[in-house]
Amino acid sequence: MLDCKKIRKMFPIYQNYPDLVYLDSGATSLKPQCVLDKMNEYYTQYGVNIHRGVYRLSYQATEAYDQARQIVADFIHAHFNEIVFTKNVTEALNKICQMYQKKLKENDEIITCELEHHSSVLPWMKACEEKNMKLVYIPLNDEGRVTVDQFKKIITHQSKVLVITYVSNVMGYITPLKEMIQLAHQHHMIVIVDAAQAVSHLPIDVKDLDCDFLAFSGHKMLGPTGIGVLYGKKELLKTLDPIDYGGDMNEEVDLYHVDIKDIPFRFEAGTPMIAEAIGLKEAIHLLQSIGLDQIRQHELEILEYAKEKLSQIPNVTVYNKTSDIGILSFNVNGVHPHDAATFFDEANICLRAGHHCAQLITKWLHCIGTLRATFYIYNTKEDVDKMIEVVQEVVSFFHQFEVK
Ligand code: ALA
Repeated sequence: MLDCKKIRKMFPIYQNYPDLVYLDSGATSLKPQCVLDKMNEYYTQYGVNIHRGVYRLSYQATEAYDQARQIVADFIHAHFNEIVFTKNVTEALNKICQMYQKKLKENDEIITCELEHHSSVLPWMKACEEKNMKLVYIPLNDEGRVTVDQFKKIITHQSKVLVITYVSNVMGYITPLKEMIQLAHQHHMIVIVDAAQAVSHLPIDVKDLDCDFLAFSGHKMLGPTGIGVLYGKKELLKTLDPIDYGGDMNEEVDLYHVDIKDIPFRFEAGTPMIAEAIGLKEAIHLLQSIGLDQIRQHELEILEYAKEKLSQIPNVTVYNKTSDIGILSFNVNGVHPHDAATFFDEANICLRAGHHCAQLITKWLHCIGTLRATFYIYNTKEDVDKMIEVVQEVVSFFHQFEVK
């Protein structure tokens, strides 16, 4: 187990809110002081624009921003010019859909699955509507997992893109990506990976996975809000036209012609998220110093403890029977998750209730939504005990209204 007492000292929110039980890191992680300090250092010591100023402070800001890109690249085993900064994973996934769909045509098939977050599936749903392409879902197995076998069965000669989550934000399942990517490539498909829920829990090696594009947000991995990452293989990125045109993405501009910069700069028009990139760099340092393997081990231990406790309470349904990372989806039977959530709020417990922007999987589960607790480096078994007390309270409260 990680030393949570020590870890919590790094997060100022715990000093300001000592009773906080934060079980919503799947929505966004808490922010450590070191990340805030680095961003503050930028704003107070060299807070000027990058790539434009011909003066020392601007060189310093440019260097810090470039370093952030290199650190992100190293973190996922990519090259510097394969990292495009975006405002979040949603923007990254939308951008790649808008850019890549220009290569597709009527009747092409986009393969995905019901575990997807709306951010990965909705852009393609819209693209399919507009271009008369087909969205095809890989049937999930009984447990709700995506499998290589089922994927294999639905591939046709029209299949062109696989857009798939690395880790489900509702079920916490890890997708068997490597095998699926190999298979997709054998059929000349490209693969876009939504790594929003993976990046803070699993070491990611894009070269080993061999994915074509991969996206994530900084704010779920101890970094600030307002920064996301789109990774793309350089040979593919070079073939795409930018969506946004404007400052800093071009070389020469004439009356009727613009020469755009090389990757990745051509995809970052306008002043980028400088402080946020610098904050993200610091968050990566912290994650690396704790160790992603240790993080996952810690959260799985908490998760198993929570599952064991929940299994002793009647009238509770746990949806993710097996688990790969610290995500727990459950309901008190017959109680709307939003009604239950008010009880948790009263006890200063933050967890998420609803469909989690992933309605396809909550529909697959035949429920209106779930309660979702997500465990991270600062969570303890005591947090779970507090959550369990409230679950018991919810069960007893609603049980009294049951028609006998
Ligand atoms: N996608 C985030 C979640 O799962 C916001 O909560």
